[in-house]
Amino acid sequence: MRISERFIQELQDKVDIESVISANISLKRRGKTLVGLCPFHNEKTPSFTVYPESNSFYCFGCGAGGDVITFVRRMENLDYIEAVKSVAQMAGVSMPEDGYDDTLSKQRMRLLAANREAARFFNACLNDPKNREALDYFLKRGLSPNTIRKFGLGYAPNDWRALINHMKSKGFTEHELVLANLARRSDKDGKTSFYDNFRNRVMFPIIDLRGNVIAFGGRVMDDSKPKYINTSDTLVYKKSNGVFALNFAKNANEGKLILVEGYMDVIALHQAGFTNAIACLGTAFTNEQANLLSRYADEIIICYDNDEAGKAATAKALGVLGKTGLKLRVVSMSGGKDADEIIRKHGKERFADLLKEAANKTEYKLLEERNKYNLATDDGKLRFLMAASQVLAGCGSIEREIYATRLSNELGVSVDSIKSQIATAAVKLRRTEESKKRQQTEAMLAKSFEDKNNPERAGNLRAAKAEETLISSFLRNPDFYYKLKEKISHSDFVTAFNSRIMESLERGLDEGLEPSLSLFSADFTPEEMDSVTRIFHQSGSLSNTLKECEDCIEVLKDKSAPKITDTSSLSEEEYLKLFRKK
Ligand code: UTP
Ligand code: MN
Repeated sequence: MRISERFIQELQDKVDIESVISANISLKRRGKTLVGLCPFHNEKTPSFTVYPESNSFYCFGCGAGGDVITFVRRMENLDYIEAVKSVAQMAGVSMPEDGYDDTLSKQRMRLLAANREAARFFNACLNDPKNREALDYFLKRGLSPNTIRKFGLGYAPNDWRALINHMKSKGFTEHELVLANLARRSDKDGKTSFYDNFRNRVMFPIIDLRGNVIAFGGRVMDDSKPKYINTSDTLVYKKSNGVFALNFAKNANEGKLILVEGYMDVIALHQAGFTNAIACLGTAFTNEQANLLSRYADEIIICYDNDEAGKAATAKALGVLGKTGLKLRVVSMSGGKDADEIIRKHGKERFADLLKEAANKTEYKLLEERNKYNLATDDGKLRFLMAASQVLAGCGSIEREIYATRLSNELGVSVDSIKSQIATAAVKLRRTEESKKRQQTEAMLAKSFEDKNNPERAGNLRAAKAEETLISSFLRNPDFYYKLKEKISHSDFVTAFNSRIMESLERGLDEGLEPSLSLFSADFTPEEMDSVTRIFHQSGSLSNTLKECEDCIEVLKDKSAPKITDTSSLSEEEYLKLFRKK
């Protein structure tokens, strides 16, 4: 069963998309539309556009688009029903009593409840005198009882079924525990059994911004491997988006966040008063994490481990974070391998000093280059200067001036020759960038004929364009639809994806609903909504006349039109030529 379209329509009338979106990102008015930085990809110049008139959004950079429900769905990682509920709550509208399928959202609630109960159990075990060893582990690492309580730390007993037995007594099923990744299933010798995922490990719950326990990390108390086990992806957790302690850090310290590598670093920093420390979980630093952080900070101080892996991770994080426009600084770690060790060995004052001395992105890169060369030799100096010029070529004129002067003093080379070296490097850099940009534009042009949601599009471009013109025209002028509906229906459409769009459109308009993108958001995934929205907003290129619609119907009914079935064998150039002609 589905939520009635009428209810969705009513909901759309009550909430304005502008206020929902601006609660998440900052928007600037531009005529009839609003623009801002896209929350779904990294960009420096705004191409994310909100259309209050049609209650929709579209990003010209990454193609994300949809109605207000799609936005909430994507932003908060919800399924359709949950997103409708969330929008209804914002609008102060109560949901229709029954008749919709909310299995998934119920399942999520169950997993969150299971995680919460498991966290309680682990914490109780930590405080159980017979597990003294676990509590001692934390105390030996310098954590206070207060800190242990604040982070809800725990201990998973050395037992195959301790958690399962406890959870069953609380009404959870083994199946639910497997879904939550708290238990594992084994099918040995035709027999199914279940066992605890976390055993004999100290436990770190991961808590989201609403206070839900969404995952766990569990550490061994000795040197055995693997050191940590983490919850894998579940219905309520996506590891690549995970940020540890952002729930505590988001309001601390005026928009500055300290980014460290591990759970223990975060906890040690919070205990020492640096309550703006966080760790990004998962192996690689992702765009999603960068976007999330940019909503709560304007400066990130990277404080990764003092080893090769830490340096590589710093370079990667600088790359990903660099695109967000966040101010970035990097701490040069000294006196210990990580933040936790530095604080324990030398105290919090030492760490505060390191923070103060944290280098900006340019300084850090210069420092990295400097460490590669032996500046006592002329050859080393020269090679460092070349590398430094390349770093500075990417900087503005003020930065260039400052660092050129510093380098001149340090290396005993004239400022002018350093500057001219930078200028040469800058010309090269600009040329590479321009050629990269040209390649991207061409690739994008080629891509615009393809559509991952509609794989038949490229091979049936003429028909697909006619279909899209009809969809967009009918959405804008339902009268056209009522006049032409005897002549065309979704079954005449050539591409299956567009036919589905048309079918939803017909159902809505035949019921007399207002045409809007929300006619589709129940039947299409957020990714598919991107294409629906692109079709809707292409109307700038339409003449918006009944005649145009009739011509499109002609095209669709003319089955003899030649088809391009295989474009994959064409070179990019041939491909572009072909479609430019069209
Ligand atoms: P580290 O190996 O630097 O550990 O991994 P750590 O945080 O300093 O831990 P302690 O101080 O030895 O207790 C950094 C982070 O990488 C992840 C964890 O999130 C860890 O905190 N990690 C590491 C894993 O997920 N699995 C592993 O096996 C190791
Ligand atoms: Mn450590």
